Amino acid sequence: MYSEKVMDHFTNPRNVGEIENASGVGTVGNAKCGDIMRIFLDIDDNGIINDVKFKTFGCGAAVATSSMATELVKGKKVEEALKITNKAVMDALDGLPPVKVHCSLLAEEAIHAALWDYAEKNNLKIEGLKKPKSDINEEEEEIKEEY
Ligand code: FES
Repeated sequence: MYSEKVMDHFTNPRNVGEIENASGVGTVGNAKCGDIMRIFLDIDDNGIINDVKFKTFGCGAAVATSSMATELVKGKKVEEALKITNKAVMDALDGLPPVKVHCSLLAEEAIHAALWDYAEKNNLKIEGLKKPKSDINEEEEEIKEEY
């Protein structure tokens, strides 16, 4: 059902954790399955993503897509990171079963939410970046407890 890459990123996820005083933090969730993903970005003065970490409370595909998404955005410029779609994340993982496509969407949305947070904190306008759909701040405390 899952590709070797998915299994690899699920059993050995890259960039797990959090960044203190991150430049941007994005938390998104899927109401249907209840999975939650949070991405932390460390962005330097030149708009380059120097470091990225994630915490995902969710299914195996959500963990694998978070892990791959962090690998894809690391070292990229903000504008380049914005262009990384869920399809790119899935392609990099050699695909996902159709029922798991929404898990990869979570990864794209979490990156966008973290970029939005970064832009807001710095009074920046990032071309093409839309306000994140869901604001699930009230669930943040719950996530902390899970870890
Ligand atoms: Fe919902 Fe994977 S089942 S994120």
